[in-house]
Amino acid sequence: MKEAVANAAVEFLVPQLSENTIIGIGTGSTANLFIAALAKYKNKIAATVASSFVSEEKLKAHQINVIELNETTQVDFYIDGADESNHQLQLIKGGGGALTREKIIASAAKEFLCIADESKLVNQLGAFPLPIEVIPMASNYVSREIIKLGGNPILRKNQKTDNGNVILDINDFVIEDPTSIETALNMISGVVTNGLFSLRPADKLFLGTASGSVSELHTKQ
Ligand code: A5P
Repeated sequence: MKEAVANAAVEFLVPQLSENTIIGIGTGSTANLFIAALAKYKNKIAATVASSFVSEEKLKAHQINVIELNETTQVDFYIDGADESNHQLQLIKGGGGALTREKIIASAAKEFLCIADESKLVNQLGAFPLPIEVIPMASNYVSREIIKLGGNPILRKNQKTDNGNVILDINDFVIEDPTSIETALNMISGVVTNGLFSLRPADKLFLGTASGSVSELHTKQ
């Protein structure tokens, strides 16, 4: 399923590629398959921007050009997986810990394509624990504030982000209004980024199904 959506995203992109195209690249097993599928077209684009050290290494292993976000004023497309998506294409991301750079590149991109298998589509976000990247010295304070919002934060063991921070995973969180929760979490001092992508949802979701077909959901026509 993941391979089928990765290929579908590449097929969608190919007719739109030019020597100036800059593509933002997500992180995770689905993004890795996208990188492998994109490799064939590496000479048809200007460059990529990676959302993690891991993805940067994978891109370079395929001899795909990688630049820093600060080196460009445009990101034409951002392609990434998700841990959950609702039908409005609001997402939970950060299961792999790369949420901050992912959110920055998604925000900078003109078009955000999410690629996922059908198990990721939900009616309400929150069954997947919501990752929050936090400045290490603030983790206890941020945890207490999250408990006030109704969540149950658990410090992820043995993981530092690419930015040197820690991750709290919020369990048992009822996310009825993703944009209010995303905004409330952003207001807590010490939170770097939260894994809700609702203020900047995906524009298109390519969903792989068990039958091998790929369906497309859109937020804009
Ligand atoms: C990485 O931190 C996440 O945001 C990923 O996008 C997410 O975990 C999806 O990963 P898979 O493609 O491996 O399911």
